[in-house]
Amino acid sequence: MATLKLKTNINCLFGEVTIPGDKSISHRSVMFGSIAYGETKVTNFLPGDDCLSTISCFRKLGVTIEESDNQLRIIGNGFEGLTEPDGVLDVGNSGTTIRLLMGILAGRPFFSTLVGDESIGKRPMTRVTGPLTRMGAWLDGRKNGAFTPISIRGGQLNPFHYELPVASAQVKSALILAGLQAAGESTIIEPAETRDHTERMIQQFGGEITKNNKVITVKGGQKLTASTIHVPGDISSAAFFLVAGAVIPRSEIVLKNVGLNPTRTGIIEVMKKMGADLEIVQKDDNSFEPTGDLIIKTSNLKGTVVEGDIIPKLIDEIPIIALLATQAEGITVIKDAEELKVKETNRIDTVVYELRKLGASIEATNDGMIIYGKSNLNGGRVSSHGDHRIGMMLSIAALLCINNVELEQSEAISVSYPNFFAHLNSLIH
Ligand code: S3P
Repeated sequence: MATLKLKTNINCLFGEVTIPGDKSISHRSVMFGSIAYGETKVTNFLPGDDCLSTISCFRKLGVTIEESDNQLRIIGNGFEGLTEPDGVLDVGNSGTTIRLLMGILAGRPFFSTLVGDESIGKRPMTRVTGPLTRMGAWLDGRKNGAFTPISIRGGQLNPFHYELPVASAQVKSALILAGLQAAGESTIIEPAETRDHTERMIQQFGGEITKNNKVITVKGGQKLTASTIHVPGDISSAAFFLVAGAVIPRSEIVLKNVGLNPTRTGIIEVMKKMGADLEIVQKDDNSFEPTGDLIIKTSNLKGTVVEGDIIPKLIDEIPIIALLATQAEGITVIKDAEELKVKETNRIDTVVYELRKLGASIEATNDGMIIYGKSNLNGGRVSSHGDHRIGMMLSIAALLCINNVELEQSEAISVSYPNFFAHLNSLIH
């Protein structure tokens, strides 16, 4: 496991970064290309470890996928074209891969087993295995289907009506993918709006899905047709540079090609509310996912409250928002974010534990955290705990530290942003 000496105490950040492809959309491009009929082409695919796990699983399910220079060529033969894998399907660290795959495999008349790394082994799966079992599939795993390894024998699925107990795009998407294979029309109700990339992609592949307020309706038996997908840049990756640009003195950063799907832009709303000098330029609303360029400059920030329905729109950005709050005047409270406890790590605990080591004044609550600003950060030995977003957040925190910072388990960052340090270093002056 790699320990890295991080850059600290820098003067300013200046320049331009083209943000790599969105992780959620990259996963879905492989999945939909595989279950559609025909040849799908994907550009600006994110070659992060998680998305490579998705490719490897679909290859084991018999799909031809060629990959070169962030481009994919996928030959799909519909759901029916998927075949029983010879060995286990390994999802690595990827929650999106395992949960969405369960929805697909629940309707397939063969046996498969899904495994992952140590972190995946601790993440709750009953939220997906439970409703899929009620639709008529057979799924099991450790602790009555709660944890990996998960085994599935799929088959004919009954249409269903399901109210999601948690706001989760992964669970919603798994059920939509199962609903596409069910004998009739299914409805899913969300407690709060979550990222809608699955719904947009179904339409991009010629399928039909409707959304009325928080009620989603999908018909089974639809045939999807191959498409061409250009993956927009990942706002969750851009978030690290947005915060860095706002907190490092004398900085100005242009972030090109950022996905601006309104179900993902909670970070922009929160940063603006905190007083960030953040501008959206060159907005393009014409493709299936809106995009734009962002300009961030050093900002005077004030504390805020982050709570309620905005939480799913910034769930992956909370670690970096916590760092932002350490550099804002006053108190920031993050509430209604219990879901953080079941991410790649318990992100309430890992954020609080690691930022405290650097000198931040931050405490954990049951459903979030309280951050007291503004803190000077010192330095020390920190760890990603194997969580890519914790690793990147700490690398941005280090830029503010006056003493040395060493990051343990830095390799986790390649899960979602293999070029992260190259891009960060290009901005440091
Ligand atoms: C994702 C949904 C979110 C997010 C994850 C990716 C997706 O998880 O945290 O990084 O691609 O659907 P939940 O939907 O479980 O909150």
